[in-house]
This record gives sequence, structure tokens and C-alpha cells, in this order.
Amino acid sequence: MSISQIGRSIAESATLKLNETAAILRAKGEPVIHLGGGEPKTKPPIDALVTASALLNSGEIRYTPADGIPALKQAVIRYMDEFYDRKVQPENIICSGGAKQSIMVALQAILNPQEEVIYPAPYWVSYPEMAKLCGGVGVPVYAEDGTFYPRIQDIEAKLGPYTRAVIINSPNNPTGAMYPEQFIAEIVELCEKRDLYLIMDDIYHRLIFDGRKPINCYKYAKNLDESSKLIVVNGVSKQYAMTGFRIGWAVANKKLIRVMTNIQSHQTSGPSALCQQAAVGALNGVQSSVESLRVTLENNRNVLVERLNTFRGVRVSKPDGTFYCFADFSAYGKSSQKLAQRLLDKVRVLVMPGIEFGLDGYLRISYCGTVKDITEGIERMKWVLDPEAPNELYLGNRKLVRDW
Ligand SMILES: Cc1ncc(COP(=O)(O)O)c(C=O)c1O
Repeated sequence: MSISQIGRSIAESATLKLNETAAILRAKGEPVIHLGGGEPKTKPPIDALVTASALLNSGEIRYTPADGIPALKQAVIRYMDEFYDRKVQPENIICSGGAKQSIMVALQAILNPQEEVIYPAPYWVSYPEMAKLCGGVGVPVYAEDGTFYPRIQDIEAKLGPYTRAVIINSPNNPTGAMYPEQFIAEIVELCEKRDLYLIMDDIYHRLIFDGRKPINCYKYAKNLDESSKLIVVNGVSKQYAMTGFRIGWAVANKKLIRVMTNIQSHQTSGPSALCQQAAVGALNGVQSSVESLRVTLENNRNVLVERLNTFRGVRVSKPDGTFYCFADFSAYGKSSQKLAQRLLDKVRVLVMPGIEFGLDGYLRISYCGTVKDITEGIERMKWVLDPEAPNELYLGNRKLVRDW
């Protein structure tokens, strides 16, 4: 069977494989604790459900414009005004099947084969694969000081004749690090100076802790006219717990949005009419669910970090936002893939191997579930990894005895 070069270049996702194994185990009745996921467990806002239901009941569910329905664009215009103090027009917006599709069509619109897109490491798993899907090259940048906070000089050192774009995701999946305002100012300035596209993946920008406020990248842009290469991406998946609706958007100059729309129109057409209506409901409705989710996540983070600090071999940086913690487990084995597999095999806890995000020896632990799952999951992990703990552990009414 002949498979295309691009098809062959896309690696099997270890994350998906672990997820599948966990799903099979769960279906068999195994007490799997899922600390690997990327979605809040709360319900979507009621306004989202009511708005979508009204359309569903009307039966008028048709194709939508390739760049999104006017009502969603109006809601995004209001969102941009509120959170970015920025007045944009409908032609500056594309609504897509998730922020993921917005980023993908942006890259397809700007990358030529062999051209590079740069992003700080650790990075969201999809960035390198998206670059490959465009025939381009993803270039991760590791902070020389070994932290999760990139430095402008490390990024600048990677810029070359093939660099076309930089992606910044803050707060960050997988580390939870929110980059300092100074860094955002510097990266906006650097990209303008070097005439590079800057994709701000702001999907977690409202899920931040300890009194932090979302950072507005436009504040630091000198060029705010239609030649600006700043692209701001967001969506309803995380902040409104609406992952399954698959609605995200990008805001950029009109010419780029036109090109992105052309690409999207031949890929998927406009996103589902029902889901766009739901997103309109979420964006225009009562906003209390976002704050309630944020507070819950902050509490979950505190519980998780406190428990992780009791391990003898774990090093943790307290996440500033998101619902992920990226902790150094290298004292228990250099291969994060093997470690994650071992935790699933031994005690049915699913966490994500750091290698998927560009850093081996680390595990990404999600805290978007319940406190009960977090505490029980961590207790099981500790039992496997810290040998002085009791020799027995109960998974439900099944007794495990440590045999290593
Ligand atoms: C950093 C980052 N960007 C984008 C996305 C995509 O979100 P969506 O569900 O809107 O496609 C995710 C989802 O996990 C993410 O973690």
C-alpha cells in the first residue's frame, strides 16, 4: 500500500493510544482514574444549550457561511472589545471547527513547504504535526535556563531565513505557565520587527489563578492596521466546557482571513449551525460559569500541587493557569512513556507522557476532574512510586499487593 509522505510523517499519538487502552479497561469495568484529559467536566452554560435547542426545534439547520454565521461573528466582536479592547469587523474573523482548525488553516495560509514555525517548548502536541501537515517544519525552543518560561533571546536565536511564524500559547498546555507581560510585549515587538506572523493561542486566557489578569497582546503592537501579522485564536472548548461543540475562531487582518476562509470552505465548509448557535449563547449569556470553573480549577490545582510535593522524587512548578500540571518524574525513570504505561498497568491511573509535549521524564497531570479523582489518583501513583508507602492498595474492593 502506498502512503503519502505527509501521511507517513504524522506519528501515532502515544496519548491517543493510552486513552484507547484506558477506555478499553474502563469498558471492562476497571476502576480507571483519568488524569490525562483536556476537558472540564462541568456542563456547558445553560444559555448555550437553550440557544442551540431553539434552532434544533425549528428544524432550520442548514449550511453556514464558510467563515461563520453573522451572530457568532457579532459575539466575537463583543468578546474582542471586552477582553482585548479591540474593535474588529466581521471580515477580521473566521469561525472554525474548534481553535484547532483555526490554527491549522492559519498555518496552511502562511506556510510554504520547508518554512518554519517556532514555538516555546514544552508545547501542545498538535503544533509540530500541524506544521508537518502543511509541509513545513515545527521548531521548538527550549528555555536555556530550564524553566517553562521562554526567553526572548532563546526565540530570537532560532529565527532564520525560513522562519515564517511564531506560536505562543499562554497560559500553556502542558505546563500551566503563564508567560510574563514583559515577554508578550517583547515577542509582539520581535515579530513586528522581523515581519513574522505571530499566532497567539489564547484558548486558556481566562483560566488563570492567584489574581492574574488576561494579557492583551494588542497593547504592545505598533501596527494595528490591515497589514498586521498578529493572529489571535480562541474558542469555547475550555472556558465554557464546550469541547464537543467544536467551535473556535481566529481574528486577523482581512486579507489573511479571506485566504483562511477559502481554505476552510474546501475542507469542511462553515462549522455546524447548531454548534455555532450554542457558542453564541455561551458568549452572549450569563458568564458566571467561567468564573465558577476558574475557581474550581484553582482549588484543584492547589490540592494537586500539595499532594505532588509529598513525593520524594517529584519536582513541581505551580501552574499559573489552565488545568494541567507538568511535573518532573525523571527520578522514577527517564522514559515518560514507560512510566505512564506502568501507572496505567499497575494502578489504573491515566496521565500523559511528557515526551509527547517535547520533554521526557515529565508527566502531564490534568486537574479538570473532581478533587476525589485527583486525590485518589495521586495516592495510587504514590503507592507505585514511593516504596515506603503501605504494601497494599485497594482499587475498589480489589486488593493489590506490591510485587516489585
Ligand atoms: C493549546 C491548545 N490550543 C488549541 C486547542 C484546541 O482547542 P479546540 O477544542 O477549540 O479545538 C487545545 C486543545 O486541547 C489546546 O490545548
